[in-house]
Amino acid sequence: MMKRVFARNLEFGVLDQGQGMPVLFVHGFPLNHTMWNAQLPVFAERYRVIAPDLRGFGSSVDTEGAVSMEDFADDLAAILDHLQVREPMVYCGLSMGGYIAWQFVRKYRQRLRGLVLCDTRAAADTPEAAAGRLKMAEQVIADGTQPVAESMVSKALSPRSMSERPEVVAAVKGMILSSDPTGVAAAQRGMANRPDASDQPGQIDLPTLVMVGADDALTPVEEMRRIAGEIPQARLVVIPDAGHLSPMENPQAFNAALAEFLNRLGESATE
Ligand code: MLT
Repeated sequence: MMKRVFARNLEFGVLDQGQGMPVLFVHGFPLNHTMWNAQLPVFAERYRVIAPDLRGFGSSVDTEGAVSMEDFADDLAAILDHLQVREPMVYCGLSMGGYIAWQFVRKYRQRLRGLVLCDTRAAADTPEAAAGRLKMAEQVIADGTQPVAESMVSKALSPRSMSERPEVVAAVKGMILSSDPTGVAAAQRGMANRPDASDQPGQIDLPTLVMVGADDALTPVEEMRRIAGEIPQARLVVIPDAGHLSPMENPQAFNAALAEFLNRLGESATE
């Protein structure tokens, strides 16, 4: 069920469904909670799934300026407070949702029982990448989200998804086109300035599942392999037949790995 949540003087749309161990799904850029549509109903049968639209995206409040990864993490903590989530939960974030995860773990480690990092990275932007983001922020305000949708979809999805999964292509385009230009620009500015988190994986003391699409061109397998190698309790699963949006492109393989991970966490809780 979609709820309206008022927190930090902002209004968020948050899907909150099911019962059991809470699992927070944090979407990537410039998308919204519906990128998890192939996961939410499935996992809501066993867990309490919570999938917010981040500030500036989907049905949440639009926002000017810049939103830092720490701001997004603070928003999430406030949303969880509002929903009265007090028991230890699992954070599952993709790409920008992973950038936010580093901040969330740093500030709210005590809320967590496990971590799932999908198609993301720990390093900050190179100066060129950061400059590209600031340029895109200007462009999206001037020209809207159409050019972003055109350029991002083919980078995010694998060539096979582009040619054989028209419903996934349409869903990703639809999410980008429906995003507010000011919200997209604000997140881009926040990502351009995000702190380097390269030293964080080594400090993560949580059971962690690291997943990446085998054909991810934006956050490649090697990057994720390194992160998984540095996290003491991590397992890496490479999702075949998927690019950067692995939960949308190969939900079967993604869900199987996530189900196994959550199952084990659940079992260890009752030991
Ligand atoms: C995402 O999927 O969240 C984006 O690719 C993140 C980024 O632009 O670095």
